[in-house]
Amino acid sequence: MSGGVACDHCCGSLMMSTNINRVGYWIPEPTRCFRGWHDGAMDIAGWEEKYRSGDRGSEDAPTILVVEIAEKLAPGTAIDLACGAGRNALYLAEQGWAVTAVDASEKAIELVQLRSAARGLEVHTKVADLTAPDFTILPGAFDLILIAYYLQRDLFAKAKAALRPDGVIVAIAHTPELGEKWNEKRARPGELREFFDNWELLWEYEGPSRDSAHHRPVAEIVARRVVCPAL
Ligand SMILES: C[S@@+](CC[C@H](N)C(=O)[O-])C[C@H]1O[C@@H](n2cnc3c(N)ncnc32)[C@H](O)[C@@H]1O
Repeated sequence: MSGGVACDHCCGSLMMSTNINRVGYWIPEPTRCFRGWHDGAMDIAGWEEKYRSGDRGSEDAPTILVVEIAEKLAPGTAIDLACGAGRNALYLAEQGWAVTAVDASEKAIELVQLRSAARGLEVHTKVADLTAPDFTILPGAFDLILIAYYLQRDLFAKAKAALRPDGVIVAIAHTPELGEKWNEKRARPGELREFFDNWELLWEYEGPSRDSAHHRPVAEIVARRVVCPAL
C-alpha cells in the first residue's frame, strides 16, 4: 500500500495520509483513516478485524513488566483489562493467579479461551466494552489489575475501586514519539503518575518500549494503594 504513514497507535499499521479512503470516498480531513480507525486510534471494529484476519493475536510472550511484578507478588486474584489474545492473562494463570480477562473483541476472547484450554489453564473471560458507562468491576475483588497498552483515562477510577487493600495496579500506555503531541490514546509525559496521587509507586518508567511486541515509547507504572493501619 502506498501513500500511507505508520499509524501512531501501537500496531504500526499503515493509515492514510491522503484524503481518499480505502473504498475511494473523498474525506475532508487528511488525518481521517480506514474503517475501524478514528483520529489515529483503532476502534473495537478495527481490533475485531485484526484478530479475525490473524494480523494480531499470536503474541505469546508476556510483557516484561508483568513478569517482573508477578515475581514479586504472591498469586491472588487478577484482572487483565483489554487483554487482547491473553498473553499476560495466560502467564499470570500459569503462575497460579486466578485470572479474569476482559476485552471488547469477541475474537480476542475466543483466542484466550482456546489458548487457555490448550494449556490446561482456567481463565475467566468476558467480552466487554470498557468505555461503556455500565461497565463495572466488582469492588474490592482483585489483588492485581493490569491495563497493558490500552489508555482510557476514566478507567483508572473503576480499577482503583476494584482493588483489594494492598492491591496493585500495573498500567502501560504509549506516549508520544518525539515531536508528537499526547492525545486520546497517548499519555502525556508524567500523566500516569497523576492517577496515583498518594499511592505507593513500586515502578515508574518512561522511555523506549521494553516489550518486543511494542515498538513505540511507553509509560509504565505500578502503584499500590497505601492502606493506613487501623489506629
Ligand atoms: C494493544 S492491544 C493490548 C492487548 C494486551 N493488553 C497486550 O498487552 O497484549 C489493545 C486491546 O484493547 C482492546 N480494546 C480496544 N478498545 C476497547 C474497549 N473499548 N473495551 C475493551 N477492550 C478494548 C482491543 O481489542 C485490544 O485487544
